[in-house]
Amino acid sequence: MIYSPMHYAYAMSVALSLAKQHPVGPASAAARALAVFCLTAGALGAGELAAQAEHRVGLADHRGGYESSDYATESEAILEHLGARLPLASLASSPPLGLPTLTEPLQAEEVNLGRTLFFDRRLSANANLSCGMCHVPEQGYTQNELATPVGDEGRGGRRNAPSLYNIAFQQALFWDGRETSLEAQVWSPLLARNEMANPDRETVIKRLADIPAYRTAFDSVYEDGLTEATLGRALAAYQRALVSADSAFDRWYFDNPDYPEPIPGFDGQAAKGFQVFTEQGCSSCHTLGRSDGLFTDGGFHNTGTGFLRNQRGHRPQRVQVAPGIYVVPQVDVETEVFTDDGRVEVSGDSADQWRYRTPSLRNVALTAPYMHDGSLTSLAAVVAFYVGGGGGDPNQDARIRPLTISQGQQAALVAFLESLTASNVDALVADARSAAIGDRLRHDYRNRAPN
Ligand code: HEC
Ligand code: HEC
Repeated sequence: MIYSPMHYAYAMSVALSLAKQHPVGPASAAARALAVFCLTAGALGAGELAAQAEHRVGLADHRGGYESSDYATESEAILEHLGARLPLASLASSPPLGLPTLTEPLQAEEVNLGRTLFFDRRLSANANLSCGMCHVPEQGYTQNELATPVGDEGRGGRRNAPSLYNIAFQQALFWDGRETSLEAQVWSPLLARNEMANPDRETVIKRLADIPAYRTAFDSVYEDGLTEATLGRALAAYQRALVSADSAFDRWYFDNPDYPEPIPGFDGQAAKGFQVFTEQGCSSCHTLGRSDGLFTDGGFHNTGTGFLRNQRGHRPQRVQVAPGIYVVPQVDVETEVFTDDGRVEVSGDSADQWRYRTPSLRNVALTAPYMHDGSLTSLAAVVAFYVGGGGGDPNQDARIRPLTISQGQQAALVAFLESLTASNVDALVADARSAAIGDRLRHDYRNRAPN
């Protein structure tokens, strides 16, 4: 059988959780092959990784029997589509409580086409990886199980996949802000060797043009039909529509200007946490306004994570894949760059070394692991990181310094962060699964372009 990168990735975490729950025998050949993926999870300890949230990937393979050499994928069962569709375009024009209005209206047909494309694996060179496999709807439109995702043929990336909720409101995209247009951004994952690995834009367009359903769909939505530009527009439209707010915090804060009383989902503990959040200066970077808020200033700051990562080294020396079984990961060094200098890579200004874009905190309870490298596995760990004064880089932002707050205040801070989960998350997940994914065409590997 042909394993997709995601099989490897999931099999690795299965191996890890099995190692925890049931003692297993010597590592199989597959387990050894999996080791390379531990690199991508390098920032996480094996035990911590296994302790991640319960596995939810929607309609992809379940994990039963992954450890067996007879395992056969059922991932074509992904063709089921069960979710209820939302009127996403109109949702975006009358956004949920707590968000600004989108400046440009969305067209329903464009959003629908974008949704289908977003979950279609045929957008990748090997037809095995869709956008939605690194930005998994059930996992906060990111990946909960890997610190940094695995792309084509198991090649690892160096950064954590950001959530795509409310991406419409981000001025600068990626952790280093190197892109400003969602339309143009799509070519980055489509062509990256360690993501979807297409050799060039023409190949992607030609592959889609060979699928009659897409030709027809693009012709009916766009005057120009299927082009590099319209592919970007359709994917951008779907992502822009992922507006998500009206959290318990929003109902407490924005619905009631005096916000004195706790409300359902936002208790005294969360209110205390919000007080700590503002008093301790978190809100100077994770900003919010009087009528709406994204919990980000859109700026780039050094919290010391890059410094820590540099100190740790970029590769684990030895990784445990099963009880008593250790491997030293091998990677294709020529294609992977694991050094990460942050914003300076874009600006060329040395002051920007290890500065990363302030992430929005909306839905943050759903988007573990945290930071640009996925190095912190829980919100409690993030809070502990700040209490400890960040990463300890002499050049880090002056606002990141040891905090003297009690254990109770730290727990309250976590309760506040948890209150930022939007009310429409389940509906957006169901909507994501309302599109039929691909069709039953099997990819012909002979057509794979040389790299
Ligand atoms: C192999 C995993 C993977 C795949 C496949 C993938 N992404 Fe991503 N995506 C990432 C990672 C990792 C980042 C962060 C990279 C960085 O900041 O340098 C990212 C960043 C983004 C961002 C910027 C988010 C932000 O907060 O600035 C957008 C938008 C995005 N991806 C959309 C897409 C789309 C659309 C596709 C499909 C065409 C796609 N991604 C496919 C892993 C992936
Ligand atoms: C100087 C600006 C600044 C301040 C002050 C600040 N943060 Fe952050 N925060 C950031 C940046 C930048 C990141 C991303 C760092 C990285 O990726 O390495 C971040 C990341 C986070 C994350 C992880 C989000 C994710 O999706 O990965 C959480 C949670 C968080 N901060 C909460 C807080 C809390 C709570 C406080 C106050 C104790 C705080 N922040 C203070 C800038 C700041």
